[in-house]
Amino acid sequence: MWISFHSYKGGTGKTNMTGNLACYLVKAGHRVGLVDTDVSGPGIHALFSLKTDKTLVDYLQGGASLSDIVYRREKENLYIIPSDATEEDLVSYAKDPAQAKEKLSALFREFESRYKLDHILFDCSPGLNRSSLLIMGMTGFSIIVCTLDKQDIRGTYVISGVARKMNIKPYILFNKLPHDKFEVSKETLEDLSRKFGLMPIGVILHDEAMAGTWSRKIMVHAYPNSEYSRQIKEFWERISHSKSSL
Ligand SMILES: Nc1ncnc2c1ncn2[C@@H]1O[C@H](COP(=O)(O)OP(=O)(O)OP(=O)(O)O)[C@@H](O)[C@H]1O
Ligand SMILES: [Mg+2]
Repeated sequence: MWISFHSYKGGTGKTNMTGNLACYLVKAGHRVGLVDTDVSGPGIHALFSLKTDKTLVDYLQGGASLSDIVYRREKENLYIIPSDATEEDLVSYAKDPAQAKEKLSALFREFESRYKLDHILFDCSPGLNRSSLLIMGMTGFSIIVCTLDKQDIRGTYVISGVARKMNIKPYILFNKLPHDKFEVSKETLEDLSRKFGLMPIGVILHDEAMAGTWSRKIMVHAYPNSEYSRQIKEFWERISHSKSSL
């Protein structure tokens, strides 16, 4: 399964969520690919303390092959394609969006088959932009990670409208939800799905331990019994359930 994580505002928790979900899946016995497509503000290399040489950007510029840009994590079945920060977006390395899509899909299909991956998770750049929409159109299972912030909810409406025009129906997940807002969030989620055709895929509550890691630790490794790690497991169960009922 290819799953991408998007958001309107930055900092909603995509990079940590994608990284933790990838590590949870590896622990559960899956072979997992993790791709940082946030070329304007990549973070996966920092979260995993990778010493990178070539990255996705070098590949797109024609200066690296697939094997040059894949980093295996400590003998685990986690294969990471990191990114470098660049002012360009994913489309600018191709003639047009269609060619960019073709080139990237071919790369990810090759990644999947060569490393025998069960899943590929894509961390995308925040905002309404070509890079994020390109990946959304490629994965078949897109999740918009939103907070209860009004700016973020309004922006999520905007992204969902664009997705609808592309015939994509993304899921929506609330992250960093305060414990006392659980009931309110249910109403907001129902509202979003009714009005904008987004499919709710639950919430992840604000977790102090997670907030305190400052992207220096992988929660499911460092604190496997934490509330955040438990929620990542439940989140995966919801994804699997949604996929099978599609
Ligand atoms: N459920 C949570 N509870 C508390 N803090 C969280 C939670 N999820 C993420 N965070 C914190 O939010 C911060 C931003 O997370 P992260 O970098 O993963 O967001 P992002 O969406 O990838 O940001 P960007 O859009 O800038 O790439 C991190 O410091 C992280 O620890
Ligand atoms: Mg990020």
